[in-house]
Amino acid sequence: MERGSVDNKPVGRRRFLGTAGLTAGSVAVAGAGGLTWRAAQEGVFATGTGPAYAAWDQWDRPGRDMLSLLRAGVLAASAHNTQPWLFRVGRDHIDLYADPRRGMGSMDPLRREMYVSLGCAVENMVLAGPPSGWQPAVTLMPDPARVGHVARIRLSPAPVAHSPLYAAVPKRHTDRGAYDTGRPLGAEVAAGLRGQIGADSGVRLLWLASEKSRNIFGGLTVRATRAIIADPRQAADDFAWYRTGWRQIQSRKDGITIDASGQSPLIRAAAKLLGTSREQNQDGWLRATRDTHVATAAAFGILLVRDRLDAVRRLETGRVWQRMHLWATTRGLAVQPLNQVLERIDREHAAGLPPHFTDAMADLLPTGWHPLLAFRTGRPTAGTLLSPRRPAEDARLT
Ligand SMILES: Cc1cc2nc3c(=O)[nH]c(=O)nc-3n(C[C@H](O)[C@H](O)[C@H](O)COP(=O)(O)O)c2cc1C
Repeated sequence: MERGSVDNKPVGRRRFLGTAGLTAGSVAVAGAGGLTWRAAQEGVFATGTGPAYAAWDQWDRPGRDMLSLLRAGVLAASAHNTQPWLFRVGRDHIDLYADPRRGMGSMDPLRREMYVSLGCAVENMVLAGPPSGWQPAVTLMPDPARVGHVARIRLSPAPVAHSPLYAAVPKRHTDRGAYDTGRPLGAEVAAGLRGQIGADSGVRLLWLASEKSRNIFGGLTVRATRAIIADPRQAADDFAWYRTGWRQIQSRKDGITIDASGQSPLIRAAAKLLGTSREQNQDGWLRATRDTHVATAAAFGILLVRDRLDAVRRLETGRVWQRMHLWATTRGLAVQPLNQVLERIDREHAAGLPPHFTDAMADLLPTGWHPLLAFRTGRPTAGTLLSPRRPAEDARLT
């Protein structure tokens, strides 16, 4: 597939926006200082290449191979690109397990995002069944006594069949850039997103497109971003998933990268060459949240369920989210999950803090429904870049 260019759709989670002090001038100075060698070391000219990105080329191989499902599964979205999945391949089924080592600590104390992420992988695997000649049948949480065993996908041979959502799997990327404020979304976008919600999923979409509702949720998101930065534990757990060096990206193959930040090529090059401190990163994240993510969103969406702690509902939410993002990709729409408010709500619950965001959010929600994932959408203004992935073999249990 196409890659290595900013015109190629794609990019990773939020931050790496800590490029406040980086300017065209500083890049010029770096060049003048003879930093070409460092540029090569830091992958300035090698965006989207190397072992960390190989999974994007391996996803679609011909033949009836159960590993095809794993290869599509690892391309799913996951919170902070943690990829919290492990697979075991049986004779006629694949088991999916949560990998507790890949949690986000106080950023996800109730494991909401981990289970939503696992649901995203389930959906990619289900979509990959028919193109490789398998009919999948999914059981979520097949053994309630084993909370880490999140899904069993039974496979029976079936005629090969392709789908537009499957074709979108390698083109789906989180877009953290500015969206086009001059081109609002029509009603068909909310309808199309809702069309991805299965009747039995127990998931509901709250659509916030009016100026008033966008201001309320956008304002809360900026406040929640400040609260995360001001909370030393959350700030540290958040930053732990940032990958700052090219060698680190190539060995870990996970996390949030500069290339995924939605920044301009110049700023990305400067950040790679000069590095960014945690403080710069946080300043940039706050600024991008306020001036780009919130300011240019055409609409926000929030996926709701009745029981926010129910693992099956969380997995269903991930399945729905993955389908929505794939559908948006087929329509040329830009999408970015935006979960700072929900991360603060979970933190409030887990740490016994005053329910500031819990109460503020409750005012926006229908009675009896709870948020599991929030996102923004709109029309893109630029391309996105690939985020790293561990290949299926690295996540396979033997
Ligand atoms: C449950 C969940 C929560 C996420 N929350 C955020 C978020 O708050 N901000 C953000 O920029 N991206 C968020 N993401 C997007 C991930 O960071 C992204 O999927 C990951 O970095 C891989 O990149 P890709 O989607 O481009 O493949 C979230 C994804 C999931 C599944």
